Amino acid sequence: MINELFAFYKPIIENRIDELLPETNAPYNEVVRASRYSLKLGGKRIRPILMMEFCRLFGGDYKSALDFAVALEMIHTYSLIHDDLPCMDNDDFRRGKPSCHKAFSEDMALLAGDALLTEAFAVAANANTDADIKVKAVATLSQMAGFSGMLGGQVIDLSFVKNPPDLDSLCDMYARKTGCLLRAAAIIGATVGGATEIEVNKADIFAQKVGLAFQIIDDILDVTADPELLGKPVGSDDKNQKTTFVSILGLEGARAEAKRLTDDALKLLNGFEGNTENMKALTEYLLQRNF
Ligand code: IPE
Ligand code: IPE
Ligand code: MG
Ligand code: MG
Ligand code: MG
Repeated sequence: MINELFAFYKPIIENRIDELLPETNAPYNEVVRASRYSLKLGGKRIRPILMMEFCRLFGGDYKSALDFAVALEMIHTYSLIHDDLPCMDNDDFRRGKPSCHKAFSEDMALLAGDALLTEAFAVAANANTDADIKVKAVATLSQMAGFSGMLGGQVIDLSFVKNPPDLDSLCDMYARKTGCLLRAAAIIGATVGGATEIEVNKADIFAQKVGLAFQIIDDILDVTADPELLGKPVGSDDKNQKTTFVSILGLEGARAEAKRLTDDALKLLNGFEGNTENMKALTEYLLQRNF
């Protein structure tokens, strides 16, 4: 079921990216190429798929959420390009290929990240949807990506190298750096699908559980994965002296926590009225993934 879900959504996302971010003959095309390089390398497309599935779950047409889904994937990709830079995690591989700053140059990677973030808001603002929905979506994207969201999480992540956190502080940082973009997927998908405020809130709480589990699994894979399959270096956290769920709880403890959060998320799905089969499959896949 999960394979069919990916097979259904992935080409839709890829085609829309090609329509929205074509190469150009303009003299700035180098940054378009660098942006497209990272965006089109692959990636699991978890956030856009989650958004469109939430839209569908609440009775909407997934196509109405497509441009917001692409905008979110652009913001996520910007965060990865900058995360890999020498001044951040200094990682040379991403999505199975040289990182943006290796395939191009550091200056171009910086600008490609800037471009993807900026253009994401144009994609969202130009979506073919009601103006009030677009305003909500744009506000959610900026809140979840900004100071108190993903970006703030990245800042706290860096600060923890000097001041190692306890588990609660680590959870707060994960909720921001990773949880917030997954929350954006859930909130925007549910909103576009026509969910009530209470339902949007439930979708948000579900995404908070999944977001935390997602980063714990990312920590585990940084220790246990096959780098070929993972598409990015293993051992990056250790190299950068990062405190992670694995360094605090050990592999088994970290796995148990990810399982507990996933079980909580699966229980929350029982509280939704629509058909949650796909969402259940996606949630279980996120726990079991090996890349
Ligand atoms: C990686 O995200 C960064 C984290 C927030 C852990 P993904 O694991 O979704 O990366 P891609 O998009 O599949 O490359
Ligand atoms: C970063 O977490 C999450 C982002 C906001 C990019 P990591 O630094 O652990 O992500 P990976 O492992 O490089 O994908
Ligand atoms: Mg990082
Ligand atoms: Mg990293
Ligand atoms: Mg990681």
